[in-house]
Amino acid sequence: MASPTLHAFPDSLVFARRLGRALGWPVERIELHHFPDGESLVRVRAEAGARAIVVRSLFEPNEKIVELLLAADALRRAGVGSLTLVAPYLAYMRQDRVFQPGEPVSQRVLGALLGASFERVLCIEAHLHRVRSLAEVFPCRAESIPAATVLAPWLEKAGHSLLVGPDEESEPFVRGLAEQVGLDWCVGTKRRHGDAEVTVALAECPARGGRALLVDDIVSSGATLAAAATGLYAQGVERVEAAVVHALFAPGAVDRLRAAGVAQVVSTDTIPHPTNQIATAPSLARVLAEES
Ligand code: R5P
Repeated sequence: MASPTLHAFPDSLVFARRLGRALGWPVERIELHHFPDGESLVRVRAEAGARAIVVRSLFEPNEKIVELLLAADALRRAGVGSLTLVAPYLAYMRQDRVFQPGEPVSQRVLGALLGASFERVLCIEAHLHRVRSLAEVFPCRAESIPAATVLAPWLEKAGHSLLVGPDEESEPFVRGLAEQVGLDWCVGTKRRHGDAEVTVALAECPARGGRALLVDDIVSSGATLAAAATGLYAQGVERVEAAVVHALFAPGAVDRLRAAGVAQVVSTDTIPHPTNQIATAPSLARVLAEES
């Protein structure tokens, strides 16, 4: 059977080429045009009967989601047989319940939308907290590669003495990662007071001396990691660094981390950013290759 083709939007072409090299599969560019009124037009190059994998990381997601639906329609009209979405960062997963009256469950809305256009969705660490698996979110087959899979090989060589998760939600992720690499770990208790206002208490951390690594799935405003770093220094940690999966980095986030004394931040390449040091294409390629 012929190899599937990776179809990438211009903003994900670099990532798709990495993935294509890891798999030995061809990469086609999806052409994108924006009309003066803001609407989008996509053009794909595909062969009838082929298997297609659309690659796009969904940071700054709103326009990208519409364009993904257009690309899926174009690929079907070109006769593509099966359609997979690889979204290294999958957006809208945080709103997994109604937190305040009058809100939607955004996670389910996105799942229904994309699940109607793709047979399969694959991402890195989908930020699932109150929902156990992406199978509950999407009507199609959907998988999230756990953060520990991509971070552990890097962490094994990094030489930290303690892993710290900033909040209770990070516990399964931090515990799993710490057990995998044989490090002490602890998690804080977080209270969010606003988009960029957070307090983190670290009462249970065995945190004297040494080099602690804060780990989190997402950095956005940087407030969570900054508050956790401040707490660690207050407990006598000598140096605090941070490793994150999805480097969303809203404006001001890097300065906020620097001001809190975070000595180094590294991230995976699910979202392009100067802190990217950990490649996720090998993990995605392993999963995609298993079934081809
Ligand atoms: C929350 O559940 C996430 O794991 C992150 O801690 C959060 O999204 C980070 O956001 P910020 O950088 O804005 O504090």
